[in-house]
Amino acid sequence: MSFTGASILSIEQFSLDDVERIFAVADRMQPFASRERFTKALDGAILGNIFLEPSTRTRISFGSAFNLLGGHVRETSDISSSAFVKGESLQDSARILSGYSDIICLRHPTSGSVEKFAKYSRVPVINGGDGANEHPTQALLDLFTIKKELRAKNRDINNLRIALVGDLLFGRTVHSLCKLLSLYRGISVVLISPPELSMPEDIIESMRAANIQVNDCEDFYKGIGDVDIIYTTRIQEERFENKEMASKYRGKFVLNDDIYTKYCSSDTVVMHPLPRDSRPEANEIDFDLDSNPNLAIFRQADNGIAVRMALFALVLDVVDQVEKTSSKIQWYVSRK
Ligand code: NCD
Repeated sequence: MSFTGASILSIEQFSLDDVERIFAVADRMQPFASRERFTKALDGAILGNIFLEPSTRTRISFGSAFNLLGGHVRETSDISSSAFVKGESLQDSARILSGYSDIICLRHPTSGSVEKFAKYSRVPVINGGDGANEHPTQALLDLFTIKKELRAKNRDINNLRIALVGDLLFGRTVHSLCKLLSLYRGISVVLISPPELSMPEDIIESMRAANIQVNDCEDFYKGIGDVDIIYTTRIQEERFENKEMASKYRGKFVLNDDIYTKYCSSDTVVMHPLPRDSRPEANEIDFDLDSNPNLAIFRQADNGIAVRMALFALVLDVVDQVEKTSSKIQWYVSRK
């Protein structure tokens, strides 16, 4: 695809070459993401960062990535303080906000809403998560992380075995990740969820059509036993019609040091899109795993910066300007 001016709405728009191109640019963004160098490639550009659902990582990392490229960020992070509560349509919001920005990131509670918004926007739009549908930039940073973690173990993505755990019905990150993995060969996916929260059939079918080996596993301990990556997720309580029902599923798949030591092979990498639900009744990943070097969740979140910088640089067509307009940073950077 041509990235210049394109909206990033779904993983389905990418070919394998596109994904590898994003990752190659993300690698070039590393000195900027790690605050060794600063660039003015997007000097004067404005990002409209519109988050109409709770967010910490995605919102701040989109904003930071844009700032690290030298651009400015205008932000709405509270639906109740936006004109949506006055009944403004997606169409009108798109027309207005695209007059104020060079690119827009939008998170919205309704599936398909970001695509609709993009139709009326005069500038490119990036999907920061639309309901239970997709979260394409999370999937890109997840796969970028998977490849990096495997590389550190002298492996590549061929023959990857990955377990997806938790709320696979409403979890938009796993939906996008499955679509992304379908571009690769020799992958096997183990799906572990309560039966009521299982992966939508159409996604399973499209994985099978792409020759991914997909297995359901009722038994959590068995399912996490023979994989390279465990990707666990939070019960998406905000998507339940009856919020009380969510509590029925919390705490079903707890990963802690004892369980990891007993059931997983010693180099299994543990990932999570975050936030992990650390309330005692949920506790998807116990704090006692934090010192395990295979816990990749914080490296995974950090990788969001380089990947999102790469997307901005590609869509706004400044990849070649990034190094040219760069300099060593002048301020103190903690290397802890
Ligand atoms: C995820 C999301 O919003 O879909 N969070 C994120 O963006 N990293 C996952 C979640 O909220 O559980």
